[in-house]
Amino acid sequence: MDFEITKQQQAIVDQVRDFTAKRLRPGVVERDEASEFPLEAFKEFGKMGMFGLCYPKAFGGSDVGYLPYILAVEEVSKVDASFGIGFSVNTSLYGGSVMYSSATDEQKKRFLAPIASGQAIGSFGLTEETAGSDAAGQQTIATKDGDGYILNGTKIFNTNGPIADYTVIYALTDPALGIKGMCAFVLEKGMEGFHIGRLENKMGIRSAQVSEMVLENVRVSADRMIAKPGEGFKLAMKTLDGGRIGVGAQALGLAEGAFDIAVEHLKKREQFGKPLYKQQYLAFKMAELYADIEKARLVLYKAACLKEAGKPFTMEAAVAKLTCTDVAMKVTTECVQMLGGNGYMKEYHVERMMRDAKITQIYEGTNEIQKLVISGGLFR
Ligand code: CAA
Repeated sequence: MDFEITKQQQAIVDQVRDFTAKRLRPGVVERDEASEFPLEAFKEFGKMGMFGLCYPKAFGGSDVGYLPYILAVEEVSKVDASFGIGFSVNTSLYGGSVMYSSATDEQKKRFLAPIASGQAIGSFGLTEETAGSDAAGQQTIATKDGDGYILNGTKIFNTNGPIADYTVIYALTDPALGIKGMCAFVLEKGMEGFHIGRLENKMGIRSAQVSEMVLENVRVSADRMIAKPGEGFKLAMKTLDGGRIGVGAQALGLAEGAFDIAVEHLKKREQFGKPLYKQQYLAFKMAELYADIEKARLVLYKAACLKEAGKPFTMEAAVAKLTCTDVAMKVTTECVQMLGGNGYMKEYHVERMMRDAKITQIYEGTNEIQKLVISGGLFR
């Protein structure tokens, strides 16, 4: 067991940190207020090779590994967690759906390479009004039409929906068959009948672009099907296992970002004739939060290493998601409190981080669902 990250991994973290300081820190408060995504910076980040870190060279990636990718999500999320979830959904959920599907190599080259090489952006269409925690409750229907299919339905809460070039859509071929008929297709922006619906106005991750995606008689050819009927549900679950490590990384980054701000504040601000960190209550509180962050980091990196090694990691991903997101909520909330009145003000960033942290306990499987996955594994 080696707790050191490699020189190559450190170089990626340094590169991301430099990018984040130059391209994400400026304007992060304003983007949050205006719900505006830094699209140009996102494209630039993709062209730096960040979207392909965990994918094979044959499909446009650099095959560096899953842990380096997770380190990159963590690093950007210290400053801009909206960018972090855009990055994670693009890479883990869109990329993962294509990569882990039974698509042919030709399809993977066609649908994964543009994303992994940073030429395009991906999104993931699973959730519906009737299919949230119960992901099997799909109402999007794929009706056979010659050698292709006609898709009808509405997906909701699609991160990257409005900015995506490619979207994976999960659907049922026959409602009576349930998940035995669940399949998946790759759709592209501009296809007839495929359009963006309502844009969400959110409590946190306000700069992330989240919308409905509406499918009205969208004709898709058979070569766009990446999961055959019966394969779709397992593909979505396998993909979400990877995505949950990404959300864990986003949450850990949020916790660390807020913690670092609190450290500086406690050193600088004086009350009762001494810096705040000399109040033992606050110093001990910081010690506890530090311990929480370190625990979260260990379970997160363990899940990422297992995935990278090709070992089973479903339970570990759920543990990582549950742990990191609860720690993020706790740390960001405590940091707002420790900064006092300043913590409530936008320019100190921690109030945004607290709002951003909340959704990490909800999306890509609520933390109650993570407990279901963990207990299911324990008592199988
Ligand atoms: N990997 C591979 N296969 C899996 C699997 C996994 N992790 N989990 C389950 N399966 C398989 C099972 O083995 C089973 O296969 P068999 O029928 O061959 O035995 C099949 O899938 C059905 O499994 P379950 O009976 O356990 O399924 P279920 O209906 O009880 O649901 C659940 C399980 C864990 C509750 C699942 O529905 C779930 O994860 N729900 C949460 C959905 C979710 O995370 N949504 C997030 C949306 S994405 C998002 O948030 C987007 C964003 O923009 C950020």
